[in-house]
Amino acid sequence: MANETQIKLWNESNAARWLKLGDAMTRPLEPFGQAAIEALTPRRGEKVLDIGCGTGETTRALAALTGDALGIDVCEPFVEIARSKGGARYLLADAQTHRFDEQFDLLFSRFGVMFFDDPAAAFANLHSALRRGARVALAVWGPWQENQWAAIPIDVLRELMPAPDPAGPGPFGLADEAKLRRVLAGFANVSIQRLERPFEVDPAQLADQGPAAAVLRQSGASAEIRSRFIDGVTRALGGKVPKAVGYVVSAIRP
Ligand SMILES: C[S@@+](CC[C@H](N)C(=O)[O-])C[C@H]1O[C@@H](n2cnc3c(N)ncnc32)[C@H](O)[C@@H]1O
Repeated sequence: MANETQIKLWNESNAARWLKLGDAMTRPLEPFGQAAIEALTPRRGEKVLDIGCGTGETTRALAALTGDALGIDVCEPFVEIARSKGGARYLLADAQTHRFDEQFDLLFSRFGVMFFDDPAAAFANLHSALRRGARVALAVWGPWQENQWAAIPIDVLRELMPAPDPAGPGPFGLADEAKLRRVLAGFANVSIQRLERPFEVDPAQLADQGPAAAVLRQSGASAEIRSRFIDGVTRALGGKVPKAVGYVVSAIRP
């Protein structure tokens, strides 16, 4: 099955952690999502597709602007919450493989398109769900090495245990500009705008969010290692807010 690992990860592990952290988890994403909504320039009457919509924060915002938005996500706990909040339509399905039975004027995502195991197939599928002239705006993370909220915890963790560079489907899966252009080959007017924003986070949260946290979890790290990790990240940040680097990618479906 396509995207089996990520579907299991989001349903069985990530969802509970996200929901526990709540606003603290999504607040750093907001400036990037806002910039992508501005790049999309949604108009009343247009139909939007929001990929990897999570609990539907951006889907509801887009539906309020246009009148109709569909959020798609593979994570059942997120889709249940989104549906309970209303304000838009939601679909529990894989955006890489789902055959859409309607056509959209706008394609949007806030950090929901980097998890496909075959990004080229996923964007070809999304292309087929768009009308000619449909506009696209996506927020994705830039390289992990430039995202201090990811790189500083990795450096700290490497003092405690081996930690590989993040690779493959995951938050940094589309961080390479050349790869982004390749997977968007069927689209026109592709523009990639780099955006730097502060990543407001409590140091302890970085034991639960980001690539170092994933290694900590997978290694079954002891409470002592976890506590040394949090102390190390607190020291390394020295009270400063780490930097986040993302791309706002816009394009047209010709
Ligand atoms: C980083 S979260 C972003 C959630 C939401 N867009 C937000 O900004 O709050 C990534 C989302 O992508 C979803 N996702 C991952 N792979 C997916 C796929 N193949 N199809 C649809 N959604 C997917 C996850 O379940 C998760 O909700």
